[in-house]
Amino acid sequence: MQEIEIADLRKITEIIQSSHDYDFTNYAMSSFKRRIQRVIELYKLSSVDALVKRLEADQNFFKEFLSEITVNVTEMFRDPTFWRELRDDIIPNILLNNDTFSIWHAGCSSGEEVFSIAILLKEMGILDRVKIVATDIDHVILYRARQGMYSMKNMELNGKNYIQFQGKSSLTDYYREEGGKAIMNKDLVENVEFREHNLVIGDPFSKFDLVLCRNVMIYFNQTLQNQVLKLFHASMHKYAYLAIGAKESLIWCEIANKFIVVNNEEKIYKKIKD
Ligand SMILES: C[S@@+](CC[C@H](N)C(=O)[O-])C[C@H]1O[C@@H](n2cnc3c(N)ncnc32)[C@H](O)[C@@H]1O
Repeated sequence: MQEIEIADLRKITEIIQSSHDYDFTNYAMSSFKRRIQRVIELYKLSSVDALVKRLEADQNFFKEFLSEITVNVTEMFRDPTFWRELRDDIIPNILLNNDTFSIWHAGCSSGEEVFSIAILLKEMGILDRVKIVATDIDHVILYRARQGMYSMKNMELNGKNYIQFQGKSSLTDYYREEGGKAIMNKDLVENVEFREHNLVIGDPFSKFDLVLCRNVMIYFNQTLQNQVLKLFHASMHKYAYLAIGAKESLIWCEIANKFIVVNNEEKIYKKIKD
């Protein structure tokens, strides 16, 4: 397989845009290139042109492609200290001024983080007072999030994270095992709306008190990060919180002055200006 060049990536992003109306132009080049390489190998395509032809002609292939091109790696209670900070500081602060509140979980992948926040809220006794909207660009992964069914192998790691999070119970209380899979308790996501939403073209659709978007913008270039942060800013009430991934930062973005850092370690920010 020949090295993929910038001109190839351009060809691919153009066909995705013209045939499927998704814009990957501002995805970080190196990881996008790696994912394209992976798709070509996985589907045993002979060249970039073969990929372009397939993308042009085959709608079902595009759905699979979209799933492959986006990185879906996730865990429950990943970075346990982050979830502790949410439980012990951020959410109590939101509750000072609100009986009920709302969370936008952007880039929720297969839902492990959605179940994490739901468990956290349940243990705080406030799950029924919180509306959660969980979104992702990839409808295949959203289907898995809605199902809430995970491999037992992954649950081992999730269980370890939960212990470090210092949950009140045992993670096993929140699922049952069936056919080698963990089936999450449905009541956890009763107030969760899972919906398809593309951060690249999406408009603000509501205002939230807390926006979680962890390990998503790491795949975007600076231009797209700026654009998406404007979208989050417009989707947040004044004094709402925004949490991003441990390896991400907001300080370089154009509208950094509209936020303050609440916790630099856990990458939690607060909107202070409209
Ligand atoms: C690495 S996962 C992060 C999952 C979870 N937030 C976490 O930190 O464990 C990145 C997710 O972002 C989603 N994503 C990528 N581009 C997106 C876009 N333009 N709009 C919405 N979601 C996107 C992917 O489909 C994937 O599920």
